[in-house]
Amino acid sequence: MIGKVRPLVLAAALVVAGVATADPAEAATTLGASAAAKGRFFGAAVANSHLGEAAYATTLDREFNSVTPENEMKWDATEPNPGQFTFGAADNIVNHARGHGQSLRGHTLVWHNQLPGWVNQITTGSALMTAMQRHINGVAGHYRGQIAYWDVVNEAFADGTGGGLRSSIWTQRLGFNTGWIEQAFRLARTADPNAKLCYNDYNTDGQNAKSNAVFNMVRDFKARGVPIDCVGFQSHLNINGVPGDYQANLQRFANLGVDVQITELDIGGSNFTTQANNYRTVVQACLNVSRCNRIVTWGVTDKYSWRASSTPLLFDGNFNKKPAYNSVLAVLNS
Ligand code: G3I
Repeated sequence: MIGKVRPLVLAAALVVAGVATADPAEAATTLGASAAAKGRFFGAAVANSHLGEAAYATTLDREFNSVTPENEMKWDATEPNPGQFTFGAADNIVNHARGHGQSLRGHTLVWHNQLPGWVNQITTGSALMTAMQRHINGVAGHYRGQIAYWDVVNEAFADGTGGGLRSSIWTQRLGFNTGWIEQAFRLARTADPNAKLCYNDYNTDGQNAKSNAVFNMVRDFKARGVPIDCVGFQSHLNINGVPGDYQANLQRFANLGVDVQITELDIGGSNFTTQANNYRTVVQACLNVSRCNRIVTWGVTDKYSWRASSTPLLFDGNFNKKPAYNSVLAVLNS
């Protein structure tokens, strides 16, 4: 009896001690492969203008198995004039990803930023709704069957304690209620029935007024059969670290019956040890939530980050692996 129990006790002791019990020779050596072994994807935001740079493309294709176009699928890029769609740059990224077996996140169909001027000049709710319908049909329809997850609506909620929608052309023309968001999800489902549909936002990484408001919308959508499949947590974090309830917040959304994803992860900081610890916390939290099935960093290298001065990514400006890279890989392999 005692003899049968002993190996279990030993294994438990090793786990408690944090000692990896897997054969190190079996551990994968890239972010994508290690994430795949855990049933996840590990991705990066990609800029079409850098794909021609050998070190950029090599790093992307070696390490990442999910791709999000950083700007190329946004409204100003895809429909610069009413009803005239331009997909050259986005198609280039999609073709690259498909050629390298990388899964795609579409970003983003409805947002208040990076709108072409003509959308901002629409003066009536009905005209804006018509434009939204044409845009979702045009873009999600163009990529029908090729996008795993779409950010259907991005950043619709306000910061601060109010817990409501942000003031933008959308709320100003269509109202401070989630009806137009619901409509966007219904249109996206029709345009690309096999894509999973996400609501995506920032400053929703812990429980606060903003994430509570998103939570209430998702709960309402699920209760009424509005087609939402996923919530994206951008997680643009800084050296102050990760909210203490980060994992609990992911879990409460997952409990609503949606996938949760870390969609735009970057963690600013010149202290690379602290940064590595924060990255570890985020990735471990995602691994602890079974419906957290994808982590995407908002770029490949610090060199081209939207906040390059805070060096927030896993590869430095010379495409060298940073301490944060090593901590992420270790957690994925743990
Ligand atoms: O394309 C023009 C180019 O023609 C021009 O010469 C150049 C001059 O500055 O600007 C170029 O456009 C820039 C564009 O990125 C492409 O590089 C814009 O000025 C610049 O504002 C834009 O920034 C993007 C930002 O969204 C705009 O809101 C960032 O690259 C992009 O990383 C960032 O991504 C957002 C997510 O979509 C949503 N969540 C927050 C995240 C970070 O802000």
